[in-house]
Amino acid sequence: MKQQLYINQGFAAWDGILKQYQPQKTLLVCGKQSYRSIEAIVQPLLTQLSGKIITFNEFGKKPCIEDIFRGITLCREENVDLIIAIGGGHCIDTAKAINLLSKQPISLNNANDLAESIRGNTTLIPTECPLIVMPTTCGSGSEATHFAVVYIGSDKFSLAHPSILADWVIADKCLVNSLPHSIAVYTALDALCQAIESYWSVGATQESEEYALNALKIISPHLQNQFTINDQFFTDMVLAANYAGRAINISKTTAPHALSYYLTDQFDVPHGIAVALTLGAVATYTEINAENHTQKKIQTIKNILNFSDEFSQSWYDFIASLDIACKLSDYNLKEEHLEKMVNSVNLQRLANHPINFDTKQLKQVLKSRYI
Ligand SMILES: [Fe+2]
Repeated sequence: MKQQLYINQGFAAWDGILKQYQPQKTLLVCGKQSYRSIEAIVQPLLTQLSGKIITFNEFGKKPCIEDIFRGITLCREENVDLIIAIGGGHCIDTAKAINLLSKQPISLNNANDLAESIRGNTTLIPTECPLIVMPTTCGSGSEATHFAVVYIGSDKFSLAHPSILADWVIADKCLVNSLPHSIAVYTALDALCQAIESYWSVGATQESEEYALNALKIISPHLQNQFTINDQFFTDMVLAANYAGRAINISKTTAPHALSYYLTDQFDVPHGIAVALTLGAVATYTEINAENHTQKKIQTIKNILNFSDEFSQSWYDFIASLDIACKLSDYNLKEEHLEKMVNSVNLQRLANHPINFDTKQLKQVLKSRYI
């Protein structure tokens, strides 16, 4: 089924959803804290659904195998026939992973079975359980992708399957406009970085480039306003985040994302900041060392964002204007951590980057952002 996408149309999708599904058991995957702020808006809708609603909101800060295991167990015990995810990227990824993995012929008595599926060592069969997604942040774009991040210990895996793409997406400013200021800014930064990385990614296609450019054009006026939070910001960011999500769904992300996970895992740097911290330096390094085709793309990005000739300078001026510290040492990293950061990089994701980095070059880029 083609994804039914409703952006900034309130809950116009709901009648169609009620007509299409008469679930016996619905699994509601939602964040504990974030759900409270929008409960009054979505609860009247959920009560219109047939059957029983089972809430799954006991999960940690990142989507890990233990949480997925509990979600799968619940899904199977209750015979869930519809899943609704209401939350940020982490929550949506959790719902996507539970949806796919609960349908695999794996024994829950053997923890290794589940891990093997997450590691990509088994052939995954499609899930037919419908998934409805309502993003409550304006950045991850997870509602538009067919992959979900899952951690086994500190190892990060990207579970990918066409059938985990959400069937229905309701993305609306009313679900995000009560976000705390900082989270709104951090998630918007993620969307901006995703659009930039998608545009220059080696996996970019004409379609993904169009989505990425759309996202950049929508976000650009808000750079001049230092991401001032107002009604227009939320309206635009809901749409831009979705475009950026659709773009990376095709192209995947590149070096700044690959480098970011170490900062988030080891130093608790919020994802959007973690990506932004290296993006400027990576962009300038890439522009200098890339061939013509990529240089032109970076010039296009600079033009849309009204950046001066030096990408890095304009980028970090903008980040600083958001009151976000720009150097890696501001986040308690010591110089010896740079080596670990380089070694942590997922080589597959790095292969999407438009120039080849060896570890020495990557370290050089990080060093330029250290102090
Ligand atoms: Fe991201």
